[in-house]
Amino acid sequence: MSEIMEMLIRRGFLWQSFEIYGGMAGFIDFAPLGNGLRRRIENLWREMFVINERAVEIDTPTIGIEEVYIASGHATSFTDVAIECRNCGRVYRADHYIKEKLGFEVDESIEAVKAVLQEFDLRCECGGEFGEPEPFNLMFSTRIGPGKGKKGYLRPETAQGIFIAFKRLAEYFRDRLPFGVAQIGRSYRNEISPRQGVIRLREFNQAELEYFVHPEHKEHPGFENYRNEVVKLLDKSGEEHEISLGRAVEEGIILNGAIAYFIARTKEFLLRAGIDEKRLRFRQHRDDERAHYASDCWDAEVLTSYGWIEVVGIADRGCYDLSRHSRFSGEDLSIFIPYREPVKVRKKLVIPDMGKLGPKFRKKSKKIADALKSLELGESESDKDRIVVEVDGEKIEVPEDCYTIQEVEVTLHGEKVIPHVIEPSFGLDRITYAVLEHSFDRDTVDGEERKVLRLKRWIAPVQVAVLPLLSRKPFTTKAMEITEMLKKSGIFTEYDDSGSIGRRYRRYDEIGTPFCVTIDHQTFEDETVTIRDRDDTSQIRVCVKDLREVLTELLSSERDIKEFGEVFRG
Ligand code: ATP
Ligand code: GLY
Repeated sequence: MSEIMEMLIRRGFLWQSFEIYGGMAGFIDFAPLGNGLRRRIENLWREMFVINERAVEIDTPTIGIEEVYIASGHATSFTDVAIECRNCGRVYRADHYIKEKLGFEVDESIEAVKAVLQEFDLRCECGGEFGEPEPFNLMFSTRIGPGKGKKGYLRPETAQGIFIAFKRLAEYFRDRLPFGVAQIGRSYRNEISPRQGVIRLREFNQAELEYFVHPEHKEHPGFENYRNEVVKLLDKSGEEHEISLGRAVEEGIILNGAIAYFIARTKEFLLRAGIDEKRLRFRQHRDDERAHYASDCWDAEVLTSYGWIEVVGIADRGCYDLSRHSRFSGEDLSIFIPYREPVKVRKKLVIPDMGKLGPKFRKKSKKIADALKSLELGESESDKDRIVVEVDGEKIEVPEDCYTIQEVEVTLHGEKVIPHVIEPSFGLDRITYAVLEHSFDRDTVDGEERKVLRLKRWIAPVQVAVLPLLSRKPFTTKAMEITEMLKKSGIFTEYDDSGSIGRRYRRYDEIGTPFCVTIDHQTFEDETVTIRDRDDTSQIRVCVKDLREVLTELLSSERDIKEFGEVFRG
């Protein structure tokens, strides 16, 4: 086990789920500190992608009825290619196993995997041969209700809950684009062989924003502020660029301003959460790896001990989802966009002649007349000698004498469009783990090696530890009083009186607590306490009455404690 993993388990960040029954790959418990850290990251996300966007957050069921995932395409296309050992029966995700054993990427298709199996003598870890590659659907299926019930799936992404509520959401936003809808919550994928510990889970937390835009204006009003932001890009042909986002859009490396904006915001978010900029890049999906719904996709990838891992996917899903749900549900999911000025256009309309239609088509004549009225003919269609309409699923040919075609001028006040959607999708568990790895450090203090987690102050699960120098009254009572005061002002504070002060400092350094407040003998002489900085272990003395204000300022910034008092080494 890696040193960091050992520390994360021992200190209470991450635990193996079902541990007393031997555990199960792909599941993990977020222990008290890991859960606290993930929640802080989630709140930072909410602040940046909901509160500071034209966006709302909703919460929809994690179980979906079958219809949703048939329409979304997941029931047929949300698959990975699996290979099963003929000898021991072990199943692997083909592309991952090939990468691990042969060192190259393979297209995610049955044919490509077959070709690799034929060309290379790829064996299972037991030495056995593999059978034919098979597609494996990653959704967990379930039954809703007793008996045979109704088929359902655990959601593989939070996004579908947003698309199927689109009609209501558009109304909520009064049909004004662009707008965003976020959802944070659990998603489930029956990953084939999750061998990457905490990275590949079968139940995980996503924070997704579906940002609906006009199909012809895939922009974000905030992009202007980020045009000069320089990012590391790896495009789909494998070429690297260190380039400003403005230029990347102008040169067509990034498809549109909306994707570029979300790349910028994602970078800002990840750095604020504590990802190391040197270990961050944005990689464009190759054509063969894009999800079935995406026309372009960029992953934010971070370098960890597992290699480069995807933590965020930013996809242009076009109108794929809304069009599919519209078609499968029969609901109109377009929105009406008024023009600034009304526009006059000439149209060719079909005027039914009921006197002729009635006797010919009898009961169907009314529906045929309605179908004719709803037609709009193109330029060349003015002299049609027959028209075919569809009524109740039946195609009916209407002869020329049953209608006339008239050219009229009409005033259009707007148009109906199916919005496109740009989706930044964040994996909160992977981000939390990557932040932990990137924050983990070692240095030497007083001649001794120290392990320290250099978490951002605003993200740390325990922000302040209040430590009585001695574990007896009046030190303990004063420390508890101060703990209560800090907790009341919203600071995540822990009280600890166990063990020597040196050992306590080490514990809080290791779990990333930015500041320790110590109550010592001098506290009872002049009402002051010490504040110790985790990163360089320097200390200052401040009056108890100023403590809350000083800590609040320090925790929301990266200001030096020197600015708040004279520094001494503890
Ligand atoms: P991968 O290629 O690693 O399987 P993906 O391309 O399937 O990931 P997306 O479908 O884009 O991932 O999901 C959006 C985000 O959800 C990812 O960026 C990731 O952070 C998170 N995520 C996806 N699958 C998992 C998983 N099995 N465990 C933990 N997080 C995941
Ligand atoms: N919503 C994007 C994904 O989960 O793949």
